[in-house]
Amino acid sequence: MRVDGTPTRTIWPLANADAVAIIDQTALPHAYRVLRLASLEEVAQAICSMQVRGAPLIGVTAAYGLALAMVHGDDDATLLAAVETLAATRPTAVNLRWALARMQRCLAPLPRAARAEAAWQEAARIADEDVEQCRQIGEHGLQRLRGASGGRERLQIMTHCNAGWLATVDHGTALAPVYAAFDAGIDVQVWVSETRPRNQGLLTAWELAQHGVPHTVIADNAAGLLLARGDIDAVIVGADRIAANGDVANKIGTYLKALAAAAAGVPFYVAAPRSTIDFACPSGAEIPIEERAADELRIVHGRDAGGVRGQLQQVPASASVVNPAFDITPAKLVSALITERGGCPASAAGLLALYPEERHA
Ligand code: MRU
Repeated sequence: MRVDGTPTRTIWPLANADAVAIIDQTALPHAYRVLRLASLEEVAQAICSMQVRGAPLIGVTAAYGLALAMVHGDDDATLLAAVETLAATRPTAVNLRWALARMQRCLAPLPRAARAEAAWQEAARIADEDVEQCRQIGEHGLQRLRGASGGRERLQIMTHCNAGWLATVDHGTALAPVYAAFDAGIDVQVWVSETRPRNQGLLTAWELAQHGVPHTVIADNAAGLLLARGDIDAVIVGADRIAANGDVANKIGTYLKALAAAAAGVPFYVAAPRSTIDFACPSGAEIPIEERAADELRIVHGRDAGGVRGQLQQVPASASVVNPAFDITPAKLVSALITERGGCPASAAGLLALYPEERHA
């Protein structure tokens, strides 16, 4: 992706500095700010506070977090403690545990002196693979989108949350096919739901604008109307975890969109790489749902009339609040999963046909 015309990833190692750079996603869309993370603690805090967010990017960031931990101590106890610290940051996106397990498999057998260097290399490999897989998701998703407009001049796509470039290292998952379609000259318009309470839809709008893709922001509650009256050709979302039976955990509000899409006969696609599929998790019922702080609902962030960034309390402190961050969309509401290996039905058989090496698991 380009930020103001400059090709940019969402995370990159700082040469000879034992640090990584990230884009502070809590400042967007109001300010573009790059932060330097130089310790395990800073990485853990960046994930918890959602300065970095989105399942694939959380995994890659955690991998770099382990590399930073190894710089400051390369013994087994440090490795184990760092894995535990990072694993505790966010519970739902399985990419986090997937990346930590891969890093552990790589580092644990090595002599201590070799671990730090190997950790940087493995984290960079995970990042590069994420870029390539997202690019492939874009290619496969594009095949689904070609001709989906049913004769309409402009292809109308709805998405939820941010499953774009910002949620990965590059390209995105749900937005990768959108970028591929746009780059292929297809006239595409994206309907972006705000995604209360953290408003990740505004991140989606920001990055679509950076790429020049036409888009419109809607309140979350407007999605049902648009789908019911035939304004939308397809819905594409990302995932934080896909269970072995094809059930999908994604940002709160995804399930409502899937229900509305099914009622309207609109295809509902879920795009995600292998690192988001949890073959050890039988169904959505076993996926842990993150419960986040009530203040995320109570307090809204923005700019005042003078352009100054600030916050306002919208929900009184006396009001009872719950803030589940994800929901489960049952496999039966998903038209297809789109992965780096292609599309498949959202079912155990569909997933295993794409990933036959998981049959033994
Ligand atoms: O809480 P977030 O912002 O990390 O949640 C992100 C999502 O739910 C995304 O839709 C999902 O991670 C897919 S990202 C490619």
